[in-house]
Amino acid sequence: MLLRKSGLHERKMKNGKFVTMGIESSCDETSVSIVLDGREVLSNIISSQIKVHKAFGGVVPEIASRHHLENINSVTDSAMEEAGVSWEDIDLIGVTYGPGLVGALLIGIASAKAYSLAKNIPLVGVHHIQGHISANYIAHPELEPPFTALVISGGHTNIVEVEDYNECRVLGSTRDDAAGEAFDKVARVIGLGYPGGPLIDKYAKEGNPQAIEFKRVYLEKGSLDFSFSGIKTSVLNYVNSMKQAGKEIPVADVAASFQASVTEVTVNKTVGAAVSMKKDRIVMAGGVAANSELRRQMQEACKKKGIKLFCPPPVLCTDNAAMIACAAYYKYKAGGKDDLTLDAFPNLPL
Ligand code: KG4
Ligand code: ZN
Repeated sequence: MLLRKSGLHERKMKNGKFVTMGIESSCDETSVSIVLDGREVLSNIISSQIKVHKAFGGVVPEIASRHHLENINSVTDSAMEEAGVSWEDIDLIGVTYGPGLVGALLIGIASAKAYSLAKNIPLVGVHHIQGHISANYIAHPELEPPFTALVISGGHTNIVEVEDYNECRVLGSTRDDAAGEAFDKVARVIGLGYPGGPLIDKYAKEGNPQAIEFKRVYLEKGSLDFSFSGIKTSVLNYVNSMKQAGKEIPVADVAASFQASVTEVTVNKTVGAAVSMKKDRIVMAGGVAANSELRRQMQEACKKKGIKLFCPPPVLCTDNAAMIACAAYYKYKAGGKDDLTLDAFPNLPL
């Protein structure tokens, strides 16, 4: 699978930059990316399975694995072709090894190990959340740790203290559903379809966020943990009561009110964490970080406290391999290296 060197390749490689291939397959996106010096993206090919899983209202693990397997080689070819690199140019392969769906992770890992062995390229396993945080290094070339990060996606909701590229501490996590999971479930209940996050974001723009008072769950005083299952149940109860009364569900108002509840709690806890940890920068990451209202309110709250906010563009918020290549680069630079025993860890702790 050697590709001809393109003009772009000649130009970039002359600068002696370090070339990382990132591979991501933890959920329903098969992605391969080529990144220079950890931050300069030459290609970031993302093959989404959303259409396949839509019919089931959520990701079906076995189907996800099968599609990763079918797609991984062609996605790799496309990423190399678009970047204009050949195997000989690649200095490092970084691959997500957890957390995620075990069968899905295994496809990316097996491919990465095969490429590494066949082409004699060093291999590094990357934590998926570390990858999400690293998306910000790509989007903001000036950004360096330390900072407080909010990682908010379909599988995770964490407030993380990032001290250095490879050093972080989880300050709070969800005790039940991840925020994105709540977005997806609520969207299904009000008949918006899958994936729900972007649809709730869209419909909420037409709705009144104060129309319905949904729960704001803060847990114990000072806790930086989250709980989103209660609000999901409140929405379900509200929808059922409307149905029983034979009334039409005000979809836009429900979307706006639900989003307002999640946003308020998330913003208050994240900004509170940054203030108490004396951090003057907050970084947002993960699929739900693409939410327009969350971004707007976080920006407003940060401004009041003199905190600088960093968010990646939406394409780097959701799962992608560029963020994995970036995290792999910094891990490798710090001495991190894996071998062919690298395995998948569905519940890998941060
Ligand atoms: O980071 P991601 O691609 O996958 C995980 O690691 O989980 O996040 C996917 C999640 C889904 O739950 C999706 O509904 C949500 O991110 N999402 C959004 C938005 N765009 C994606 N949630 C709210 N507003 C959005 N604009
Ligand atoms: Zn993710």
